[in-house]
Amino acid sequence: PRVTIVGAGRVGSTLAQRVAEKNLADVVLLDIIAGMPQGLALDLMEARGIEIHNRQIIGTNNYADTSGSQIVVITAGLPRKPGMSRDDLLKTNAKIVVEAAKNAIAHSPNAIFIVVTNPLDVMTYLAWQATGLPRDRIMGMAGVLDSARFETFIALELGVLPADVKAMVLGSHGDLMVPLSRYATVNGIPITELLDVATIERLVERTRNGGAEIVELMQTGGAFFAPASATSVMVESILLNQSRLLPVAAYLQGEYGLEDVVIGVPCRLGCGGIESILELNLTDREREGLHTSAQSVRKSIERSQE
Ligand code: NAI
Repeated sequence: PRVTIVGAGRVGSTLAQRVAEKNLADVVLLDIIAGMPQGLALDLMEARGIEIHNRQIIGTNNYADTSGSQIVVITAGLPRKPGMSRDDLLKTNAKIVVEAAKNAIAHSPNAIFIVVTNPLDVMTYLAWQATGLPRDRIMGMAGVLDSARFETFIALELGVLPADVKAMVLGSHGDLMVPLSRYATVNGIPITELLDVATIERLVERTRNGGAEIVELMQTGGAFFAPASATSVMVESILLNQSRLLPVAAYLQGEYGLEDVVIGVPCRLGCGGIESILELNLTDREREGLHTSAQSVRKSIERSQE
């Protein structure tokens, strides 16, 4: 199989490394900067003998080289600077993502698309519109990352192995995300048994702020290691038809009482893309959180089209 990654920046190039070194697929890295993706691809190819895999990594500035991809990941666009919200990137990234999605689908009409560019939910919606794809074949990555951040903070607080912590974060990728604390567990034991309410609230707040915390520390762009890991898990579940149940930004048609909007919900990911959307019984507060999240995504979609 072949995975195209549009945008060979920090998230895109790290994802290329993950996909190739996990031996999932050959990778085509595309960027507008001449020479840059070619250089990265050569560098990754030179690591193959040491990492022991035989995947091809191609760097290009030409969409013709991406043809026949099973998966297209869009990471092209600007990242945040300190003090910026994801929404500040709206108009610039909208143009980039729409153009990338149209070019990519023209050469890989059967591909499944994963959008990573921020503001995530809006960009996924615009890419869905631009490609005309059925909703099961286009999605956004945010929930897997936000959940991993929540799990990390729980693990750090309790001094347990991160892999033993399971949590799910729904909603939009931003301040209005909806971490489902009552479903978070350490090997099946609810964290509500292990931590007091105030501590859980503190960890939730840190999760909401997880991206900005890294932007503030780095001062030059944002997170990319964990975002690349989170995206590679989605790529893996699709390519290997694992049907993993993951939080994914999906186009909703009535689920959770929401329509014509993209937002993070639990989805099964397999070789056809989104195989199904799970509708959880949410508490009033969680449901309200999801609807507030959706409203803000809708507003941004409108603003992007003004
Ligand atoms: P970066 O600046 O390192 O890379 C972006 C790349 O896109 C650059 O190489 C640039 O040349 C390229 N690019 C710009 N316009 C293009 C075009 N028209 N066609 C092809 N390539 C183009 O940024 P980074 O850190 O890799 O982040 C990429 C995006 O992903 C940002 O919007 C960032 O906010 C977002 N992001 C989303 C996350 C999520 O959870 N959904 C997590 C982390 C980042």
